[in-house]
Amino acid sequence: MNSDNNIISINGISKHFDGVKAVDNVNLEIQRGEFFSLLGPSGCGKTTLLRMLAGFEAPNTGEIYIDGQPMSAIPAYNRPVNMVFQNYAIFPHLDVGGNIAFGLRKSGLSKAEISAKVEEMLTLIKLPGYAERSATQLSGGERQRISLARALIKQPKVLLLDEPLGALDKKLREQMQLELRALQKSVGITFVFVTHDQEEALTMSDRIAVMSKGQVLQVESPADLYERPNSRFVAGFIGNMNFFDGRVQKIDEGTTFVDAGPLGAVEARIDNGAPAGTDVVVAIRPQKLKLHLKAPGESANTVEGRMGPAAYLGDRSHLNVLVPGREQPVAVAVQNMEGSELTASDQPVWLSFAGESVVLLRSE
Ligand SMILES: Nc1ncnc2c1ncn2[C@@H]1O[C@H](COP(=O)(O)OP(=O)(O)O)[C@@H](O)[C@H]1O
Ligand SMILES: [Mg+2]
Repeated sequence: MNSDNNIISINGISKHFDGVKAVDNVNLEIQRGEFFSLLGPSGCGKTTLLRMLAGFEAPNTGEIYIDGQPMSAIPAYNRPVNMVFQNYAIFPHLDVGGNIAFGLRKSGLSKAEISAKVEEMLTLIKLPGYAERSATQLSGGERQRISLARALIKQPKVLLLDEPLGALDKKLREQMQLELRALQKSVGITFVFVTHDQEEALTMSDRIAVMSKGQVLQVESPADLYERPNSRFVAGFIGNMNFFDGRVQKIDEGTTFVDAGPLGAVEARIDNGAPAGTDVVVAIRPQKLKLHLKAPGESANTVEGRMGPAAYLGDRSHLNVLVPGREQPVAVAVQNMEGSELTASDQPVWLSFAGESVVLLRSE
């Protein structure tokens, strides 16, 4: 279970609060040097799981191993981890250097050694020469960099980050995402990063664990999670997805033939093991649907509809196509090219998709 490449091993961890299962039998292996994210909607148990890693909360069942050591008997202050919070507590009575050096005050290091380490951290977070600045006159981004430096200066084996960019505005958050990712790679410390923002998790992570209602539903790299979600929840949470109910007709040489009601005959280039007669959900990303103004030759993997409301977003447009027999419009995303014309509302259109673009999910 504790293979050498794993720095964290979470075995059967549960945590209840007054009958609420905040974390429900979670098993996870996190590798050394990984940027690992816990992603899920608010209330799904991300913070509780992170707090158990930190030692701020004790699990009801299970054991957490860090670097091969069981953690249940190890108090928070003796764990080889450090935590960065969304609402970074900067001490206003200390200057920037004093804030960063805070965790070293009992380390026995000399003043000169501490100053050297602080300056090293300031270079790392791209704020060289800031040591003597007042901590009260910093921007949100600077404050967050300083709390990172404060957490990293003790060289923890694992850094735990609970929505650390949540308080920043969009532009700064996107810039900090790239910086944080680069910083993690340069220091080589394992990061366990909590976010409810799927784009943030996709941008930053080596692997992502998607959580819902206290459980981990899927653990994959960003691309695999996006291309091969294994449940309707994950498929809908990571990016946009159209869902169609269907029933498997037959499977032939890696192609699953599905009758998908208003969408018609679907030939999916996958065999997920669902035998003929199984109810399934056909899932297709909006950008994997092709829009045609004339009927395409093929009949499988195509559907006729009418143009519904469209949203122009500059570089792309989000179209809605109304398909007979289906209440919810089909979402189609198109790139806006030079001279591309917007399709008039109510105009007849056809949608087609490649059999490789179809994700087949179990009906829940
Ligand atoms: N100290 C606590 N006491 C009671 N319930 C809690 C406590 N901490 C968290 N919870 C509950 O546990 C669930 C998971 O919360 P949390 O881990 O904070 O989720 P997330 O970080 O994903 O938003 C929620 O239903 C929350 O209300
Ligand atoms: Mg939280």
